[in-house]
Amino acid sequence: MNLQFSDRVSTLKGSAIREIFKYAADPQVISLAGGNPAPETFPNKELSDIAKELLENQPVLSLQYGITEGYAPLREQVKERLQRKENIDCEKNDVIIVSGGQQAIDLTTKIFVNEGDTVIVEEPSFIGALNCFRSYKANLAGVPMDENGMDIAALEETIKNSKNPKIIYTIPTFQNPSGITMTQQRRKELYEVARKYDLIIIEDNPYGELSFNGEHHATIKSIDTDGRVVYCGSFSKILAPGLRVGFMCAAPEITAKAAVAKQTSDVHTTMLPQLLASEYMKRYNIDEAIEKSRALYKEKCETMLKAIDEYFPEGVTRTNPTGGLFVWVTLPEKYDALEISKICAENKVVYVPGNTFMVDMDKKCSALRLNYSTMSNEKIIEGVKLLGEVFSKL
Ligand SMILES: Cc1ncc(COP(=O)(O)O)c(C=O)c1O
Repeated sequence: MNLQFSDRVSTLKGSAIREIFKYAADPQVISLAGGNPAPETFPNKELSDIAKELLENQPVLSLQYGITEGYAPLREQVKERLQRKENIDCEKNDVIIVSGGQQAIDLTTKIFVNEGDTVIVEEPSFIGALNCFRSYKANLAGVPMDENGMDIAALEETIKNSKNPKIIYTIPTFQNPSGITMTQQRRKELYEVARKYDLIIIEDNPYGELSFNGEHHATIKSIDTDGRVVYCGSFSKILAPGLRVGFMCAAPEITAKAAVAKQTSDVHTTMLPQLLASEYMKRYNIDEAIEKSRALYKEKCETMLKAIDEYFPEGVTRTNPTGGLFVWVTLPEKYDALEISKICAENKVVYVPGNTFMVDMDKKCSALRLNYSTMSNEKIIEGVKLLGEVFSKL
């Protein structure tokens, strides 16, 4: 049959990350390419006990259709956390439960973006969001970053030069893929620019709680006085990603429209994982569990940074993450990280080439993303050493 895919999806390419996973499946290969949280942080025993109890004692609640906005007690728990930990005004804002933070991005795009509208993104940015915007036929406009986050002067220039700018998408804290955290000053400036041009901000914050030193970075949502920030959060990195439980916090008019849009997508987020997240937080102290994850990632990140400093040749630079799961490495400009990734894969180590995270994926890019969350410290050191050998030879 002649399959004629829609314009929305015909230009979408399979993620390079999935391609790299083919190599990563080889047990001999050290993968610094993934982005998964460490499996040892999953509270599987606790969740297993709760699941058994729920299915035995609350089968209808667990297995019947639920309401689109999400399981009411979980919405309240999320609101309480957002108010307490992020200083987000949950009187003025509402929370709906979504199927992972990815769906919050998707629904926001669905309700605001018409074909040809521009979505402004940090460069580099999260591939899942970029592909989401592409699937709605948005124009993507990239804004460069430095170690303090998005370049605000460049942001304003980009807005001025864009056709129908609608949304600024940012991951201000422990960004994927760069590991960069936007300064408070820049967050305020970004908000003011969005206000000046009357744009929506998607603040995507799945890593905000994974600070190595416990430092808290005030969210843009916490300074949102006129309801333009759509805050996307997730239990993926603080509980377990396979649950597919995330949330959107925004002005009630926005969450109401997103709920209508969600009905044509998956009707509601699966009840059992919502109940698991809710019961887990009732019975256990999730903040204590997060504390342990932070310590684990801090140690792994320090191991990686130390190895990079030891084994990478001069001229290679890196970011200095203070939380999250990623380090961004930049080779001298003449090198193509995509081409080099093939040599590295033959040498049994893989990473994600930086072009994957750019608006123009076909343009040569000398940067790459490294992840430290799932490998042992020994493998991290060995992997970085192997990369260092390839880079040094070049
Ligand atoms: C920046 C960013 N946003 C959103 C997501 C989506 O996460 P989930 O849908 O699992 O909540 C991810 C996942 O890796 C991410 O890195």
